[in-house]
Amino acid sequence: MGLAQFFQELDRLAADSLEAFSRAQDVATLESGRVEFLGAKSGRLKDVQKQLGGVPPDERPAAGKRFNEVKQQIQSAFDSARDRIHAGVTQVPQAHVFDPTEPGRRQRIGRRHPITQTIEELKDIMGRLGFAVADGPEIEDEWHNFEALNIPRQHPARDPLENFYLSVAGATGNTVRLLRSQTSTVQIRVMERTPPPIRIISLGRVYRPDTADATHYPMFHQMEGLLIDRQVTMADLKSVLRMFASSYLGTDVHIRFRPSFFPFTEPSVEVDFQWNDGWTEFGGAGMVDPHVLQSVGYDPEEVTGFAFGLGIERLCMRRHGITDIREFYKNDVRFLEQF
Ligand code: DAH
Repeated sequence: MGLAQFFQELDRLAADSLEAFSRAQDVATLESGRVEFLGAKSGRLKDVQKQLGGVPPDERPAAGKRFNEVKQQIQSAFDSARDRIHAGVTQVPQAHVFDPTEPGRRQRIGRRHPITQTIEELKDIMGRLGFAVADGPEIEDEWHNFEALNIPRQHPARDPLENFYLSVAGATGNTVRLLRSQTSTVQIRVMERTPPPIRIISLGRVYRPDTADATHYPMFHQMEGLLIDRQVTMADLKSVLRMFASSYLGTDVHIRFRPSFFPFTEPSVEVDFQWNDGWTEFGGAGMVDPHVLQSVGYDPEEVTGFAFGLGIERLCMRRHGITDIREFYKNDVRFLEQF
């Protein structure tokens, strides 16, 4: 074979292979191009190399030199096609290609916050005991948060250090408002608009300027209960709380009252539940003070009643063995998705 013919063969090979590699768009085409042109056994480059032996000896050095140039050209065309295809495969997910053999991607399903779940359950339990749900505002006035609850102006519970006071400019000048510090406010709101008998619960947020630690948080939730009727006694209060505690925590909950003081109840008690190995305080309770009944226009000679206020976080923590109230408000899904 003459040199000119050999060069022709090489040129055709170079042209064909460069075109094939520049067109290749996927790994499979690239691979078949590699086999066709660079294949070690029967690739076209190999075929042309064999013809080198047929070139006259004096022309062979020129033929060999040209052969090596073309070989490098083809190799680098292959390399750049490979780089281009691999980059495309890893960078651009081919969204339009649906591969039914790929395992599916699991969807994360949201769920209600543990405190919301607890509130729903408490409403259920108390609903079965005949208590309806009442609501009240979180921004309160001093009448509903203090005055009507028998908490006079000089009382330490009204200290600015114990409350989130707001100054609200209204049409009639500055009115004192505050974030409610207790759900007992709702007792007053319900009695003001409803004649007895009454049997309600109210569940919601309350606010106190406490530094957050394992047992305190500046916002937490309470469940308030109020029952007003003729001849209501402490025994009724204890029965209701015992039935409630047994339903929420399990069957063998004991309940204990310790003497205490709240301005709006007389007598007043702290309420402890015994569950598993110890007593835990869940809140306060008592017989509604006659002053409170009077302040909403009820006749204390006609009706009596009991009230209670329990900490909802505390109930949820006791039941699930949670030891730090701050867990509820970190929004860490690893905590939240356990409920
Ligand atoms: N409001 C009280 C508190 O936040 C709890 C409380 C005590 C509520 C006695 C009541 C009650 O209804 O009768 O500490």
